[in-house]
Amino acid sequence: TAGKSGYAHFMHKEIHEQPESLRRTIQGRVNSLTGTVALDEFPTDAFADVEQVHLVAMGTSHHAAMYAATLLAARGIPAYAFMAGEYSLARPPVTDRTLVVAVSQSGETADTLDAVRRARSAGARTLALTNVVASSLTRECDDTLLIRAGPEIGVAATKTFTSQVTALVLLCERIVADATGASSRESRDLLESLSRLPGDVQAVLDTSTAEAVARAYAGSDAYFFIGRGIAHSVALEGALKFKEISYEHAEGFAASELKHGPLALVTEQTPVFVVFSGRHDEMTLNNAKEVQARGAPVVAVTSRTDGEIAELADHVLSIPETHPDLAGVAANVQLQLVAYHAANLLGRPIDKPRNLAKCVTVE
Ligand code: G6P
Repeated sequence: TAGKSGYAHFMHKEIHEQPESLRRTIQGRVNSLTGTVALDEFPTDAFADVEQVHLVAMGTSHHAAMYAATLLAARGIPAYAFMAGEYSLARPPVTDRTLVVAVSQSGETADTLDAVRRARSAGARTLALTNVVASSLTRECDDTLLIRAGPEIGVAATKTFTSQVTALVLLCERIVADATGASSRESRDLLESLSRLPGDVQAVLDTSTAEAVARAYAGSDAYFFIGRGIAHSVALEGALKFKEISYEHAEGFAASELKHGPLALVTEQTPVFVVFSGRHDEMTLNNAKEVQARGAPVVAVTSRTDGEIAELADHVLSIPETHPDLAGVAANVQLQLVAYHAANLLGRPIDKPRNLAKCVTVE
């Protein structure tokens, strides 16, 4: 267990480091009283002329990018997340008022670097959002925002997703503030919740029943994850983590997509993890009812532990009440723990899953 501080795996250690890594991500970057973010990396009004935002990334970083695109679009900024490998082949037009945000833990992913190079040579402005100082991505991009998560050893990204989403929330707030020229009540509420997020994540770690849930559904045929809005990206990330380290079949879907195909796969042998963010929960509850009617066990990830969601669910993984834009961060920690315990019960080599690498430097 050398270097693992008593944990059996780096992944488990890194999951538990999240309150601390998250504090570092936020440190000195939030003024919750004025409802503003302070990102010294960028001059005043640095993003005032941004017309649209393209977020490019792969793997877990792509899910963080999707999360941010949802937030930006909801605040009126045209924003789209792309898999970097696809963006390189079929990129929408860009101008010097297009901000291309490349999200990458390592800053060395070949597809992401290629996407940035092509966008830059077409005239876009580029920003690296990464964990690694002086990585190739920071050299290729016009600007850099570091996520400050600290070193991550486990191949499966955990604390870096949490810090990516959080740094992207800060960047989104800054872009919105520069574009609209004012801080808003909405921003103040969000940033106030953001400063409480490390404590919320700690509460999840202290009280999670994820191990019991993993045990209850061990040996299932497949594991499905659904959500809408930001919870869609969290569902995709939950499924990715699960399949990466357990080798079990796991898929994430938009809750709205269920009726258009995935429902055909749902049986008593396919537990469905339903992520509730606090937005559109009634619609998502209907989806939970639909899968339950087909016999599937429902595991709800929610802060609403005393209402209809909890009554319907076979299991609840609870998260503290927080701003709905941030609920996905705490929900994702629950899903990290489910994946970890499911893989551990199966005796998988959690820190080095077969066929996968921490960093993919070939296209
Ligand atoms: C690999 C890793 C993933 C990671 C992805 C993107 O697939 O196994 O954990 O999310 O690359 O890596 P990046 O360093 O660009 O975030």
